[in-house]
Amino acid sequence: MAKIEDPTERDAAVEQIAIRLSVPAERGRRFADLTSLRVGGSIDWVLSPNNEAQAAALVHDLEQHAIAWRPLGSGSNVLADDGEHHYVIVSLKGLKADPVFDGNRVSVSAGYSLPRLCIDAARQDLSGIEGLNGIPGTVGGALWMNAGAYGQEIGTVVETVRVARGGRVIEIPGSEVQWNYRHTSFREGEMLLGATLSLHPDDPQKISERMEKAKSQRMATQPHGSRSAGCFFKNAPAGSVGTGKMIDDLGMKGTRRGGAVVSPKHANFIVTEGDEAKAEDALALAEEIRARVKREHGIDLEYEVELWSSK
Ligand code: EPU
Repeated sequence: MAKIEDPTERDAAVEQIAIRLSVPAERGRRFADLTSLRVGGSIDWVLSPNNEAQAAALVHDLEQHAIAWRPLGSGSNVLADDGEHHYVIVSLKGLKADPVFDGNRVSVSAGYSLPRLCIDAARQDLSGIEGLNGIPGTVGGALWMNAGAYGQEIGTVVETVRVARGGRVIEIPGSEVQWNYRHTSFREGEMLLGATLSLHPDDPQKISERMEKAKSQRMATQPHGSRSAGCFFKNAPAGSVGTGKMIDDLGMKGTRRGGAVVSPKHANFIVTEGDEAKAEDALALAEEIRARVKREHGIDLEYEVELWSSK
């Protein structure tokens, strides 16, 4: 079907789809409310399906009407620009049914909190994701980017992933997905609905020690309680100096552009401050960092944060 060009017609179509599928719909939200950096402009629609089947039906209907959409979890790895974003956000937040444990496996929906899942798994004496404890985000976001920390990556424990295809929930083997460093082979437009993880039993004492260690290291070395999107740039390939250290060594901690600051705690974090902070402040600062690193080290830093454009 041809794309609906007229905004009024498109809005009417979105509204009808939401009503037909009983999906909660909101208008007039801002990325400043939807992302952890607390900056970014308006978004036309936020649709929040309540379960995986509903989410699959929803994205199918949107696609049938050629209505552009994007999935969003807790917005902890996204920098959306300050413009007007004319598309639909499909929020993962409603997909948060309690995880179901079965032996060493756990089935979990995409909107469930990753830190909560780490704690739940530890309570079942299951190991494999304790290093991810404290990564602020949803399971869906973690799957999308193959989140990792302290020697663990979520992709290594994924048995199957549930995705939306043709209006249905389809399960694909984790082995069919490429799980690279902070990147996967999921393509734009793929709606991740949930996953089954395969963990392994371990001594509860050891699991909880590793969880505590990951958490305390994170608390000691990364900003918390501030508005950030985690590490802004990827690290260069193994063996080279980490990006945080590189930016730190350039003396850029504390560098400010408008309401955006290079975190004094970890130089690969950009934090925003104050009500006036803008996405363009964070972007300007990020580009300044890239230019310095390019000039001094000849390295092109790659964004780890997703940049969402309204254009
Ligand atoms: N360092 C500095 N100054 C800084 C930051 C770091 O000197 O401002 C030094 C540290 O002292 C340490 C070394 O650099 O000797 C490495 O630092 P860290 O342990 O913090 O690791 P990282 O490579 O900077 C990566 C991930 C983090 C993840 C940690 C722990 C990336 C881009 N970053 O950071 O992930 O939490 O390891 O596993 O891969 C994220 O994905 O958003 C993220 C924050």
